[in-house]
Parts: sequence; structure tokens; C-alpha cells
Amino acid sequence: MSAPVPVTVITGASAGIGSELAKVFARNGHRLVLVARRKDKLDALADEIAAGGRPRPDVIALDLSVAGVADVLARELASRNLDAETIVNNAGFGLTGRAAELDRAEQLAMIDLNVRTLTDLSLAFVDSLARHKGGILNVASLASFLPAPGMAVYYATKAYVLSFSEALHRELRKKGVRVTALCPGPVPTEFQARAGLTGSRRGGLLELSASEVAEIGYRGFAAGKRLVVPGRLNKLVPLLPRIFPRALVLAMSDSRQKGRKT
Ligand SMILES: NC(=O)c1ccc[n+]([C@@H]2O[C@H](COP(=O)([O-])OP(=O)(O)OC[C@H]3O[C@@H](n4cnc5c(N)ncnc54)[C@H](OP(=O)(O)O)[C@@H]3O)[C@@H](O)[C@H]2O)c1
Repeated sequence: MSAPVPVTVITGASAGIGSELAKVFARNGHRLVLVARRKDKLDALADEIAAGGRPRPDVIALDLSVAGVADVLARELASRNLDAETIVNNAGFGLTGRAAELDRAEQLAMIDLNVRTLTDLSLAFVDSLARHKGGILNVASLASFLPAPGMAVYYATKAYVLSFSEALHRELRKKGVRVTALCPGPVPTEFQARAGLTGSRRGGLLELSASEVAEIGYRGFAAGKRLVVPGRLNKLVPLLPRIFPRALVLAMSDSRQKGRKT
């Protein structure tokens, strides 16, 4: 059998930022594996990328909130003679509402996807990532930098993603594996409807398109950056907890969340 083909695995590629990341990685010559639950959307994106003259991405329909999914993915890649060169952990969702009032099981499923599976996929392929001098691009958020009453569990999952990715960046650099945390601010995608963000207040000056975020994220990852915060104004948000007392940051964040769900 010929040598396995190195690929970039992108989770949550059926919509939003993941779809755009797939297009940017494809444009830059990466062979792709697209993963999410909706196979029809993944197939349509694979066709679009192939129509642009790039190799057609492999499509793997999987529910990534299920435990042990990294092993399933590893078997799928092996059976297709593919080897992970880069992992893009983008799949994720949020929920709006007071944590004590939201469905507990749904909040735990969010932790399974945003935290557990992201960790599993970050660790499962380190040997092949090192072999190909590839890396891991983890989609965190501006939410990583703040606590947020009204979206408590989601923000906490993203704080984890940032903390974990930054530490991994340092741990894996000796192996030649790049790790980047991408921290977008508000991006209009299916995220808002899924999260129950029904309020009229949008992302305002912090808002960027999914394609802008993907392009900036890709460039930062290719440059080996530890942290990428797309957008000039967005770069001020991580400074807030350093400038203001924690109680004030909590109150500001609470008031912002209230305006996003009416
Ligand atoms: N939009 C924002 O304002 C924003 C801001 C900062 C960070 N982010 C982060 O950016 C990432 C992408 O979000 P987005 O805005 O592009 O949201 P989106 O449009 O809702 O896309 C989410 C993607 O995740 C996939 N996904 C969700 N649950 C899944 C599951 N159980 N198994 C497999 N795939 C699953 C979805 O595919 P299927 O439904 O087909 O499975 C979809 O492809 C998320 O991690 C989000 O937290 C978003």
C-alpha cells in the first residue's frame, strides 16, 4: 500500500466558521477531511471545493459529542489510508439562559463537545501531527477571557479551550507541532439560533464575517501563533479583566448577555 496521505481534519465543517476554514485550508493546498453530523452539507461543501479544482475532501458524518469519538475517527482515517497532519477543532455550540434553569443534560452535552471531544482529538493524533510537522487549531472565543452570567457554561468551556491550547502550544513545540487558539468575537452563523440568542442586539463593532475570521485564523496558525484574536477592537476585550475589578467585569458581562436574549 502507498504511504498514507496527510490530511487536515476540520470538525464542524457543515456550517459557519468551520465551512469557511475548510475553504481557506483547501485554497492553501491542504487535503481535507470534513466532519460534522449533517452529511448532506458536508457533501455539498466537498463538491464546491472539488469544483474549484482542489482534491475532493473526504466526508465523515459523526456526532462528536459521543465519548470515544477520536478512536472512531482514527479508525476511519486508517481505513481510507489518511494520516492526520492538522486537526481543526471547530465544532461547538452555546446555550443562553441561567445555568440553573437550562437543561442540565444539554449543558453537559455542550461540555462533551466543546471540551471533552476537543481534548480527545487534540491528544489522539499527536504522533502523526509531529511526523508531518503539522498542528492543532482550536476554536476558542472572546468568551474565553470572561465569565458570563446568562451563558455561564459556554463561557467556561471556552476558558478551558484557551487555557488548554496555550499550555499545549508550549508542550508540543519541541515536537514541531503548532498549536493555536483562535478567539473570534461575534460572527453571524447558525450559532446564534442554536444558542437561543434571540435579542435584537447584534455583535456591533466587534462583529466579523465567518470568512474574515477563517482567513485571519488560518494565517495566524500558519505563522505558528499561540493566540489569534481577529479584529482590532476585539483585541481590547482580553484586556478588560486586567484593567477592571472582577466584580465590574461580571456586571458588564451580565448586562451584555441580557441585551442578547429578550
Ligand atoms: N458564531 C460566533 O459568534 C462564535 C464566536 C466565537 C466562537 N465561536 C465558536 O466557533 C465554532 C464554530 O461556531 P459557528 O459560529 O460556526 O457555529 P455554527 O454555524 O452553529 O456551526 C457549528 C458547527 O459545529 C457542528 N456541530 C455541532 N454539534 C455537533 C456534534 N454534536 N457533532 C458534530 N458536529 C457538531 C455543526 O454541524 P452539524 O450540526 O452538522 O453537526 C456545525 O458544523 C464553535 O466552537 C463556536 O463556539 C463562534
